[in-house]
Amino acid sequence: MSPRWVASAFYHFYPHVFILAAVYLLMLVFQPSFTPPALQFGSSWVNGHKAAREHPIEQLMKDAEHAFQETVTENPDTLSAAAHTYRNRRGRHPPPGFDTWYETARTANALIPESFFDRIYDDLEPLWGMEPGLLRYQAYSFPHVIRVRNGKVFYFSDPEDKTNWIELWADSLQEIAEFLPDIDIPVNTMEYPRLAVSWEEVQEMLAKGRRGDRGLGAPFDVITSYTGLKDLPPISPRELTMEQRYTHNWIDTKSTDNLASDAKLYWLHYRKTCPPDTPGRDANIFNMPERILYPQTPNTNYTRDGYVFDAKAARDPCVQPLMRAMHGTFVEPVGLSTSGSMMPLFAGSKLPGNNEILWPGAAYYARNKDTIAKDVRRTDWSSKDNKMFWQGPATGGINREMTWWRLHRHRFAQMTNGTTVDASVNFYKVDSPSFDLPLMVDFGRLYPEVLQHHPDTFKNWLKSVTNVSVTDLVCTPEQMDHSGHRLLTCPHSDRLISVQKAVPLMRWYDAKIVADIDSNTYSPYFASIVGSTSMPIKATMYAEWHDDRLFPWLHYVPMDNSFMDVYGILDYFCKDDKDSWVDHDDAAKHIAHAGAEWSSRVLRDDDMQLYTWRLLLEYARVSDPLRHKLGFVDDLVDRGKKHQNQ
Ligand SMILES: *[C@@H]1O[C@H](CO)[C@@H](O)[C@H](O)[C@H]1NC(C)=O
Ligand SMILES: *[C@@H]1O[C@H](CO)[C@@H](O)[C@H](O)[C@H]1NC(C)=O
Ligand SMILES: *[C@@H]1O[C@H](CO)[C@@H](O)[C@H](O)[C@H]1NC(C)=O
Repeated sequence: MSPRWVASAFYHFYPHVFILAAVYLLMLVFQPSFTPPALQFGSSWVNGHKAAREHPIEQLMKDAEHAFQETVTENPDTLSAAAHTYRNRRGRHPPPGFDTWYETARTANALIPESFFDRIYDDLEPLWGMEPGLLRYQAYSFPHVIRVRNGKVFYFSDPEDKTNWIELWADSLQEIAEFLPDIDIPVNTMEYPRLAVSWEEVQEMLAKGRRGDRGLGAPFDVITSYTGLKDLPPISPRELTMEQRYTHNWIDTKSTDNLASDAKLYWLHYRKTCPPDTPGRDANIFNMPERILYPQTPNTNYTRDGYVFDAKAARDPCVQPLMRAMHGTFVEPVGLSTSGSMMPLFAGSKLPGNNEILWPGAAYYARNKDTIAKDVRRTDWSSKDNKMFWQGPATGGINREMTWWRLHRHRFAQMTNGTTVDASVNFYKVDSPSFDLPLMVDFGRLYPEVLQHHPDTFKNWLKSVTNVSVTDLVCTPEQMDHSGHRLLTCPHSDRLISVQKAVPLMRWYDAKIVADIDSNTYSPYFASIVGSTSMPIKATMYAEWHDDRLFPWLHYVPMDNSFMDVYGILDYFCKDDKDSWVDHDDAAKHIAHAGAEWSSRVLRDDDMQLYTWRLLLEYARVSDPLRHKLGFVDDLVDRGKKHQNQ
């Protein structure tokens, strides 16, 4: 018997025998006053030392398949079925115009299980606790606004607007405008979220909205046409007189409160959105820039056996307050202009606690669609490289000499660099300031396969399975060459992270796995990656319109924002040809293809349009002075008539 076998047998089997024997011995001595403790079979300690176990990813993939099947069977196939599920889930009648919306969805062959639209109701619900008159006033006079009047679209923005998003959004409404009531849509043209209303205040609004007479009115009581905005002409907000203008209380660089306008303190604004029972609520600003925070164990509130099982919670900084020192959004965002008061504001993404109303990000409508290139080169799975690809600029937060190691994209570059990881786990940590993995004994208990398969070194393994590159370090202060061009490098991290030349999006899909890491907003590439024939891995804190229709572990692989799980994920899915353990290449291929197939069903231009359309009907209703009476009830009325005729 080799000593290793003895050791492993001891861990597997003998402890139970010894414990049992000891327990019964004690029982004999102390009887009858002693009951033996339950044996902890299957405890994580035992699992961690098993040579082979059902891999946690296998279970997560099975669960995902199950959740997916359950949801797709809920797709309504008639108007009255759609209206019925709507009433059940929302506690209201559908909004007027629901029938045309439904018919268009049907013609477009769209899948519309009610749960795909949950986000709309989460976002809009607090507005039921505000006066419609105030909502209209705020929307009408906001400087960046899209107006729909009589089926025509107008938009206004001010010269400070640096993005062309409002134009793209306005354009996206052209085709559906004739079906929309008059509305004013205030939009967030900035890259970062702007509304952070305290949890308590939001709860108050929700309660007030519930108190209102909002239920399922009797069909004959229901009004079926919107009031409209005839009294509010489609002029630029800048033409309004001073007293007609509404000014929201922004805390920003123009604010007199200097402390509040310091972008590094964004966490102090954001944490107010956290429910009081979450650890984020009382977490103070992390004020030691020279140090990092790094979890020494995966957060069990949303991971199971080391992997994300709750992708929604994995995005939520309130349940993982370490993020305040591990994500650029909180370390130092590119800007700060925030408010603790509610107003309607449409945006492409937000942190889970922000109060914007989400619709598809403007990048998805960009004409040249450079973020949505198809992977035409290598669609054949077996001809792809056995690697994880990621490329991008190190954006996401301001890259400064004393804080860069707390930015998430820098961390990802370092944690996928074999040389860096190897040095770090061998206690040479000066070159890996951006992360601090648990001790290898603990790590091995969490991710036993990683150490079993790659016992000697991370270096060669990671080199063979990753292709990760930073294309621009976005240095602060900016570095210039002799002729005044901005350099892509950065003196304070050049030694540790090298800048590489960007490759076109089309070439990303030469790799079997493509990672997607957010920056200071959503990543516009994600939809493209899901639609590609490569397998997506996704880490983000940002919520988007499509979150309820993509299933983690079926259409993409969710990754923790600490990236601690990246090795386990790579080990599971990505096997080098030389390696000999059981291959899960088929699982990676399955996710890659399921994502591509699903994306061609639920992430089409038609689907974005239908989401927006439904959202705007709801938004028009909640802003309407007669909102409690507005609804679609044709299906009920018709049925009533038929009933009478019988
Ligand atoms: C998990 O969530 C609970 C309730 O929000 C919280 O008390 C606990 O600290 C969280 N655990 C971790 C590891 O964050
Ligand atoms: C990986 O790390 C080494 C050592 O820190 C560094 O020299 C190299 O540039 C890094 N590679 C990349 C692609 O950043
Ligand atoms: C990384 O991917 C790009 C694009 O497919 C490719 O050109 C490059 O050779 C790859 N590098 C490595 C080290 O695999």
